[in-house]
Amino acid sequence: MKIGIIGSGGIGQAFAGHVLKAGYEVIISNSRGADSLADLVKQLGGKVRAGSIVEAVACDVIFLAVQWIHLPTVAKQISNWTNKIVIDPINPVVPPDYKMAELNGRASSEIVQEMLAGSKLVKAFNTFTPQLLGSSPEEANGKRVIFYCGDDASAKAIVKNLIDKIGFAGVDTGTLKEGAHLQQYPSGPLPGLNLIKL
Ligand SMILES: NC(=O)c1ccc[n+]([C@@H]2O[C@H](COP(=O)([O-])OP(=O)(O)OC[C@H]3O[C@@H](n4cnc5c(N)ncnc54)[C@H](OP(=O)(O)O)[C@@H]3O)[C@@H](O)[C@H]2O)c1
Repeated sequence: MKIGIIGSGGIGQAFAGHVLKAGYEVIISNSRGADSLADLVKQLGGKVRAGSIVEAVACDVIFLAVQWIHLPTVAKQISNWTNKIVIDPINPVVPPDYKMAELNGRASSEIVQEMLAGSKLVKAFNTFTPQLLGSSPEEANGKRVIFYCGDDASAKAIVKNLIDKIGFAGVDTGTLKEGAHLQQYPSGPLPGLNLIKL
């Protein structure tokens, strides 16, 4: 399975470290183009190469690690999101003060799903800082819990399998509507909760 990462900041890099360690093939992309990622690619090692957003989206699973405000730009750069399995670690916060965006009662991932029309969205990996997400998934003889939710059962199963393979313990929080409300920062109760499954 090939993984495409859009966004090479703290969260994109932390996720890349785990999937590369597990032996996955990765294409990583950002807004500035592949040349800007040369040092990062060297630093990450493993089966990674820098690419365009289009190349990242052509992978089997896409990890969309961009800020909420950049989401509309990324969504429009790809003409067809149909059947793409997309992991959404996005928290709906807006710079400069990173207060919550106005969502009119909806979960942020419901809006992401609408923007990436036809995609199979799974919200996951959004509840930790990059430092904690990048650290070992094993602690106190157990596995760190990663919450995930979504509406497509097959996409959820693929993401659950990926979570297992990279050494975390996946906990299903339900549909996008149910789970994303629980998972999203700053309004949900799960961000920052560092659970270990024994
Ligand atoms: N930081 C946290 O504590 C934290 C915790 C949990 C979840 N999250 C969520 O995870 C996501 C990523 O956070 P982060 O801290 O990693 O952000 P970040 O450090 O600001 O990195 C964002 C990345 O997105 C890329 N990007 C922006 N516009 C793009 C575009 N049009 N096309 C392709 N790439 C684009 C940027 O590329 P360039 O650098 O080339 O512009 C950059 O590599 C956010 O939605 C955030 O809410 C963050």
